[in-house]
Amino acid sequence: MAARMSLLLWCRLRFPAPGTGQTRRAPGRPRLSQVRLSCSEAAAQRAPGRQEADSKVGTRKKTFPEVQAERLEQAQRTVLINCPAKISEKKFLKYLSHHGKINSHYFYESYGTYDVVEFSEKDSITSLQDVIRTPGIEEECAVPFKSRLFTLTLKNPSTQAADQAPVHCHKQSTILVSDLVQKLCSADSVSNQLYTLMDEYQLTEENIKLRFLACSLIQEIACAYFPECRVKPFGSSVNTFGKLGCDLDMFLDLDEIGRSPTRAKTGPFYMEYQMKRVPSQRIASQRILSVIGDCIDNFGPGCVGVQKILNARCPLVRFSHQPTGFQCDLTTNNRVAMRSSELLYIYGSLDSRVRALVFSVRCWARVHGITSTIPGPWITNFSLTMMALFFLQKRTPPIIPTLDQLKDLADAEDKHIVEGHDCTFASNLNKIKPTENTETLDVLLSDFFEYFGNFAFNKNSINIRKVNAF
Ligand SMILES: *[C@@H]1O[C@H](CO)[C@@H](O)[C@H](O)[C@H]1NC(C)=O
Repeated sequence: MAARMSLLLWCRLRFPAPGTGQTRRAPGRPRLSQVRLSCSEAAAQRAPGRQEADSKVGTRKKTFPEVQAERLEQAQRTVLINCPAKISEKKFLKYLSHHGKINSHYFYESYGTYDVVEFSEKDSITSLQDVIRTPGIEEECAVPFKSRLFTLTLKNPSTQAADQAPVHCHKQSTILVSDLVQKLCSADSVSNQLYTLMDEYQLTEENIKLRFLACSLIQEIACAYFPECRVKPFGSSVNTFGKLGCDLDMFLDLDEIGRSPTRAKTGPFYMEYQMKRVPSQRIASQRILSVIGDCIDNFGPGCVGVQKILNARCPLVRFSHQPTGFQCDLTTNNRVAMRSSELLYIYGSLDSRVRALVFSVRCWARVHGITSTIPGPWITNFSLTMMALFFLQKRTPPIIPTLDQLKDLADAEDKHIVEGHDCTFASNLNKIKPTENTETLDVLLSDFFEYFGNFAFNKNSINIRKVNAF
């Protein structure tokens, strides 16, 4: 029988929203359910090439800290240049390569055209900075802070740009729902539709690089106070579940400063730094973020709309980074969030069905107004993700391991206790045995709705640590 499935089916399932037991829908939003999608028996097939990507034999999968370290280092060798849309790419690159080898570059648009240029050596940036002018001070006075964010102009715009076509820009946002629907219609199965959805929504390689670059630019500012600090992205920017256009969560990491020296000093004395003492970690975070927030506000090129939200449960500085187009939330002392980003990264990297299911469920929930960007008693994307993970842990055979199983695989260096919480789990993806479950995504999605549609929310809870313990 040719399975004919429509996304209309999706809306039959209702999540009890706390308090009301009703499904809500924001008015005026496009309903994906209006689109009927057909599929054939071929639904059972997964997109070609995915199997390959999953079972990369021989190539060791990198751990989350390895990927982070690599990308942070790469960002340090990268500059961001605002340039005219019509420019000779060849001449431009030639001009820049006087300062060293360029590894890669790409253009994108955000309040103008920008080029992200990654040099092969960090020294190239110093060499480039040596020849860059500071802006004239005819009308406005510039705050003399030199960053890796530059503006390039043409000496003779009329002749230099005349016969140039605009440069090719990489997109940094998701496609329109109407275009998405077009694409979904040409997929040959529901499974492939779900993979297409994920492919369109997930962060691109360029967008991830840009997120690390934005952090690296903010790190330069924070370094004015704390030269050894690191600013790292966390949350959806790095956990493999982010959608193009999502906010950028930044973590100001001051732990390097507190690290004990590796060379143990012998002799009859102890020496330690004199440091200002404050009554609590929270107060320390508030004070640090307060000055860094002022610094970003006063001196950060391209940083606008800076808000210090220091009384929140987790104090933060919110701002918009115009050159990259990211809405940023900077926090500090947020280790648990860093660990949960890594945990999601692990689950997302284990099997391609994990992310595809999560993207689909989140998109479905968004379209039906079950989640909302307005704060309120809605279920969140995070909760939906936990539900999907729990569901995948409960399949026979399981598609992903429980958190306790990941803890059993942990090494000594994986041990993490954060504020009394045991956040220990194996970092090494290669230690985790691939699943033997071969269920297809369409089956998983429909069973997901079936499962939670009949879930006794009043009696049971979900727990991704131990699947059997209700
Ligand atoms: C949740 O996920 C959906 C789909 O990925 C996304 O459109 C939405 O912006 C996310 N956040 C909220 C608060 O709904």
